[in-house]
Amino acid sequence: MKSLKENGFSADKIVENGNKFLIGNGYLGYRGTLDEFTAKECVGLNIAGLYDGVKGKWRETVNAFNPFFCVISLNGVPLDVRGKEMLSHEAELDLERGLFRRETKFLVGKAHVTLSSERFVSAVEEDLLCSRTRLTSDMDATFFVKAGVDPDIWDLNGPHFTDVESRISGSCVEVKGRTQELGIPVRVACALSHSLQNFHGGLGEFSVRLKAGETFTFDRIARVLVGEKVFSACSYERAYKAHTEEWARLWLLARLDARGDARAQFALDYSIYHLLILAPKGRYSIAARGLSGQTYKGAVFWDTEIFLLPFYMEVLPACARRLIEYRIDTLPAARKKAQDYGFGGAFYAWESQNGYDACSDFNVTDVFTHRPVRTYFKEKQIHISADVAYAILRYYERTNDDALMLGGGLETVLSCAEFARTYSYYNHIKGRYELLDVIGPDEYHERVNNNAYTNYMFFFTAKEGLALAEKFAKKYPARFEELLLSLPEGILQNLREWTEKLYLPKPDAEGVIEQFDGYFRLEDVSVEKVRSRLCHPNEYWGGSGGVATATRVIKQADVIMLFNLYPDKFSAKLRRANYDFYLPYTEHGSSLSRCSYAIAACGIGRREEAYAALLESAEIDLKGGGKQWAGEVYIGGTHPAASGGAWIAATHGLGYGRKGDLA
Ligand code: BGC
Repeated sequence: MKSLKENGFSADKIVENGNKFLIGNGYLGYRGTLDEFTAKECVGLNIAGLYDGVKGKWRETVNAFNPFFCVISLNGVPLDVRGKEMLSHEAELDLERGLFRRETKFLVGKAHVTLSSERFVSAVEEDLLCSRTRLTSDMDATFFVKAGVDPDIWDLNGPHFTDVESRISGSCVEVKGRTQELGIPVRVACALSHSLQNFHGGLGEFSVRLKAGETFTFDRIARVLVGEKVFSACSYERAYKAHTEEWARLWLLARLDARGDARAQFALDYSIYHLLILAPKGRYSIAARGLSGQTYKGAVFWDTEIFLLPFYMEVLPACARRLIEYRIDTLPAARKKAQDYGFGGAFYAWESQNGYDACSDFNVTDVFTHRPVRTYFKEKQIHISADVAYAILRYYERTNDDALMLGGGLETVLSCAEFARTYSYYNHIKGRYELLDVIGPDEYHERVNNNAYTNYMFFFTAKEGLALAEKFAKKYPARFEELLLSLPEGILQNLREWTEKLYLPKPDAEGVIEQFDGYFRLEDVSVEKVRSRLCHPNEYWGGSGGVATATRVIKQADVIMLFNLYPDKFSAKLRRANYDFYLPYTEHGSSLSRCSYAIAACGIGRREEAYAALLESAEIDLKGGGKQWAGEVYIGGTHPAASGGAWIAATHGLGYGRKGDLA
């Protein structure tokens, strides 16, 4: 399998390449930056599931101290890719082995020097990361190496550590601190193959005398230790062997064959690589921007259940179970959120940080006034609970894992349905339950009534939940009685009645289901026209005064998502009519959108469109695509949902849960 290689260096691409060349192991992510870079160049060692909030700022995942900082100098000239001494530079992401490499050649005075380094985040041990640096020169020369653990951290809403201390013992360097909010100790310890002198603030130096043609090798073995864990070193070779063997195993499970289509093959390999480096090892889940940094607060969205879970169910079932367990573990928090808003059941966090909803009331900052914009994602994007339930239902369908269902899965599904029931309003005139004041997947239209996706998704949640309840009542009567005790009295009967009267928007004469009440009355205008109305490139399209708000232009697949998730419930004719209707209005302002249309296109026989959308989705991080700003808020990083969505389109072309024919 090929590697991703890039020749030359451009300072403009530092942030983009940090994402593009990311390595990780589900727990730790190390951005694709260079050894001589620091916080200024967005070096990031991101930790999954560890959050910290600094007063007055957004709570987000924590980035750890950087164990791989290293600047090597010759005659006072640093070997820095940005210096005029740089002759050539190549960065490489070895997809097959999960390795990042760089090789840079310099001319310092008359000496031709080659600096190369390689690093990996162990696929076997979750807290381990290793780096090997090599240096050669065509003349005898003495080099100075500055290395250690750099305590300077790139944060969006930091700093997250207090009481930062560094120490050295033999050739092992350690920087430790405590998170601000919870005081959780985090240490980054690194064993170096050479001892440091003049140690100060985590860094020190040593010199190396090299003969012409000789190679100097410098290894670093680091661990990120959260809590009171103990450091243990190992040899680079051993860690490398275990790591690469594990990657070989992973690819045996995960590889897809694109039948000789080199472009699609590489795009899919790259997407799968990203899904593999996010596979959780413990009871945490996957953030919307993966391990590429703190964007979106390192929080877990519906992206995981709807766009990522299918891959893990198929390829790494144990990880899929972990993702489901994460939602079961956070059921108490979802119940509390429902209660806090005056509802029953379970209302999942829109942006989950171990259950806590990190979504701000003001998730966007206006580019003109620089004022926070009130957004209602947290309160109104209630479909998150249906998405969580959907994932559990599909997982169960695939695995028949009764233990998981009895251990909280079924309770979660029924609690999600119960939440929607208590959220709904009974319209006495029309004699039906309605879900009013919600936000569907299309975030540009906030606080709408009867979003088709939301209503149908909860309808199916309740229906499927009830069917399972019946099954479990028969199969495990005693356990089921017990389970019912943790749910509101009469829940099953209430849900039965509710599903009979829940309003499900029907297709119009052309077979199109209105996205929400009154959507058809909005201004009928093209995406391009709406774009031309922008006064600033980073202007937010939604909210109360956005350019899309009063129009039919939508951010992402919405009604179409419903068909992707329940293809069998809607005829191909209906799916085609809706696809043709909504596609021209879709801005694809979310990376979740193209792949959704790719999946939809497969299901209605639009192979060419499906192929184009699939590639666009799979290549998003290769091309540095996707929006970088929502108003004044940075939203860059990797796009795991696009990778996962591309994978679904390629493997289950007829929709989630059904094997297709596009692979
Ligand atoms: C999308 C959401 C998505 C979130 C995280 C937003 O831009 O509208 O659907 O969950 O990004 O990826």
